[in-house]
Amino acid sequence: PEPPGTPEPTLPYEAIPRSGRSAWLNLYRVWRSDGFRRFHHILQGNFQRYGPIYRETVGTYDCVNVLLPQDAAQLFQAEGIFPRRMGVEAWVAHRHLRNHKCGLFLLNGEEWRADRLVLNKEVISPAGARKFLPLLDAVAQDFTALMHRRVQRSPRRSLTVDLYHDLFRFTLEASTHALYGERLGLLEESPNAESQRFIGAVKTMLQTTLPLLFLPTRLLRWANHRLWREHIHAWDTIFQHADKCIQHIYQEFCLGQPHKYSGIMAELLLQAELPLDSIKANITEFTAGGVDTTAVPLLFTLFELARNPSVQAALRDEIVAAEAQGPRELPKLLNSLPLLKAAIKETLRLYPVGITVQRYPTKDVVLQNYRVPAGTMCQVALYAMGRSPAVFVQPLRYAPERWLRKDDHSFKALAFGFCGPPVRRQCIGRRFAEAEMMLFLMHMLRNFKVDTVSKDDINTVCGFTLMPEKPPLLTFRPLD
Ligand code: HEM
Repeated sequence: PEPPGTPEPTLPYEAIPRSGRSAWLNLYRVWRSDGFRRFHHILQGNFQRYGPIYRETVGTYDCVNVLLPQDAAQLFQAEGIFPRRMGVEAWVAHRHLRNHKCGLFLLNGEEWRADRLVLNKEVISPAGARKFLPLLDAVAQDFTALMHRRVQRSPRRSLTVDLYHDLFRFTLEASTHALYGERLGLLEESPNAESQRFIGAVKTMLQTTLPLLFLPTRLLRWANHRLWREHIHAWDTIFQHADKCIQHIYQEFCLGQPHKYSGIMAELLLQAELPLDSIKANITEFTAGGVDTTAVPLLFTLFELARNPSVQAALRDEIVAAEAQGPRELPKLLNSLPLLKAAIKETLRLYPVGITVQRYPTKDVVLQNYRVPAGTMCQVALYAMGRSPAVFVQPLRYAPERWLRKDDHSFKALAFGFCGPPVRRQCIGRRFAEAEMMLFLMHMLRNFKVDTVSKDDINTVCGFTLMPEKPPLLTFRPLD
């Protein structure tokens, strides 16, 4: 007999439980049951069935899924100096078809690292953020002013609205200001049709991406399938919009360098550390990546605060106390709002924008006692982790203060990927997105009380990123 305490022998990769027998049969089942939209629930159900590790094979997609923080730690520790996540073949195919360079999201290896090191300085470093924060803040203040005008026009000085589309306009206006130093006028009474078309294109691009992840892109291209046509058309519209903004600022830049800070794109041109086509590729990616990613968590946060009035009140107290300390620079002001920051973390725990983060480990790893060979696609299921009682106490409770307790939070807040030295592949828009959301909430909560009659959970659907199936109605009342 084995002496007590002897570790169990490591099991081979082939022994990992698998969902279903055939990848193509699984694809058929997912397709027939409209499962792409419910993919986060499928993963969650499979973890309940198979335990904390299993293999998912659907069509062209084959990967090992885990949800516990210790397994996420293993994966990120084995990611190497050129971390790689699941490629999006359809996006790369579009860039090749139209002869565009790829940006960070799609690049790998040395090319990725070289661009990333330059872009980090303007996009995610504290010094870069300090410059664009006032541009985000101006738009957040304008949104609050717009809401005041609307409330004043409504009876009983209270406004009940579905804010979904307005939030998309807010995030596009804010990111355009910070990226290009320009205002689109989306917060005026009749926003321009071209920007609306761009927002529609981002939504279509995301919705068509998810099914394309599981299907052979080459086959769809060859068949000129509707899904493929819609996807390409959406990307073309996104590129046309970004190109107009880029042309505008490029011309101004050539006429004479701006005397004051006028956004991330101008700084990149000024530094001249990246070729123009790389700047364009990355700025277009930021333009497309900066809309739904921040709009949807804002909607979920407002909803959670509306149905958790005591959390809302605690956040308002924190904001009022921070402002009472007198005018300060925005980074300092934001640093004095830990509960607000934790609220965003809490929203992203329950409603992660990306339902998984993927990695190909560069060496063999042992996950849940199974040996997983280097180069295997593995993913940390963020939606399932955020709602797992094995990881979070009372996981369905919206409780931002949990993040302020002195517990072990390592590898539990992964909505932006894992951040750590030296150059990690976490979301480069993290600081941008966090600041944009914090400034929005800071102004809105300072001015309005938010309420909702729909206290039930929101059904979510997955269209590459997580969305509400039906946005909740929210009521805003001004605080006098
Ligand atoms: C709440 C908002 C957001 C969330 C939760 C989010 C989440 C993520 C995640 C999980 C990744 C993959 C990280 C990894 O593989 O480790 C990522 C990558 C990326 N995100 Fe975001 N994102 C958000 C907002 C933004 C914004 C506003 C921008 C643009 C300004 C942006 C641009 C990017 C880019 C370019 C990458 C690729 C980075 C690289 O591969 O080096 N994201 N994001």
